[in-house]
Amino acid sequence: MRVWRGDATGGELVDYTVPVEEGEVVLDALHRIQATQSGDLAVRWNCKAGKCGSCSTEINGKPRLACMTRLSTFEQGETITVTPLRTFPVIRDLVTDVSYNYRVAETIPAFAPQPRPADGAYRMQQVDVERGQEFRKCIECFLCQTVCHVIRDHEENKPAFSGPRFFLRYAELEMHPLDTNDRRQLAREQAGIGLCNITKCCTEVCPEGIHITDNAIIPMKERVVDRSFDPVTWLGRKIFRR
Ligand code: SF4
Ligand code: F3S
Ligand code: FES
Repeated sequence: MRVWRGDATGGELVDYTVPVEEGEVVLDALHRIQATQSGDLAVRWNCKAGKCGSCSTEINGKPRLACMTRLSTFEQGETITVTPLRTFPVIRDLVTDVSYNYRVAETIPAFAPQPRPADGAYRMQQVDVERGQEFRKCIECFLCQTVCHVIRDHEENKPAFSGPRFFLRYAELEMHPLDTNDRRQLAREQAGIGLCNITKCCTEVCPEGIHITDNAIIPMKERVVDRSFDPVTWLGRKIFRR
């Protein structure tokens, strides 16, 4: 294993030779390093089941969950390099400060449901339920955020770009048939959805297999364009001042 060790002031790749067992994952090897060689190695994890989104790292340069990356997927004797998420500031070793994501989350207006009908029962089409279920599979691992080139190498873009995880959240709320908020202008002006040029890298790394680009970002871009540039909608907004 080659593991990045350091903190915000700098660091280096450190080599470890670790015995592993059949069926183990990269997180097991990191834990063995902690247990037998470097007790102070910092690595964030929680569930070891691909569900908490804590153990996100970059493994041989690819953003992945350490607990879901089997050692058997590498060649026998191959060096496995584990580095912290590149898009976020390092706290220590493999642990990064992902608070940028929580700040973005706070800027998105919450779900605002219509009043309940007289019989008290909300109703939705099954197709709307299934769409929402896909979006809500997100475990907030932020692998899609770290891979997106708009912010990966451009810290200066962060204030104007919310990133794929949050385009997904915008889409989830905007496409919810019972929601009453209109977040399309915010998606364009605050979240910077126009900066996404549909490279689909986010979709490729999502451990939940969410079709982030096709099912959330592209439909959301279409809605934003309809609201902002459709001449009839534009005229309607001018007349009714919306
Ligand atoms: Fe992780 Fe996928 Fe959610 Fe992005 S959309 S944070 S990659 S689970
Ligand atoms: Fe980034 Fe995904 Fe768009 S990787 S550029 S948000 S398609
Ligand atoms: Fe929870 Fe890996 S430890 S997703």
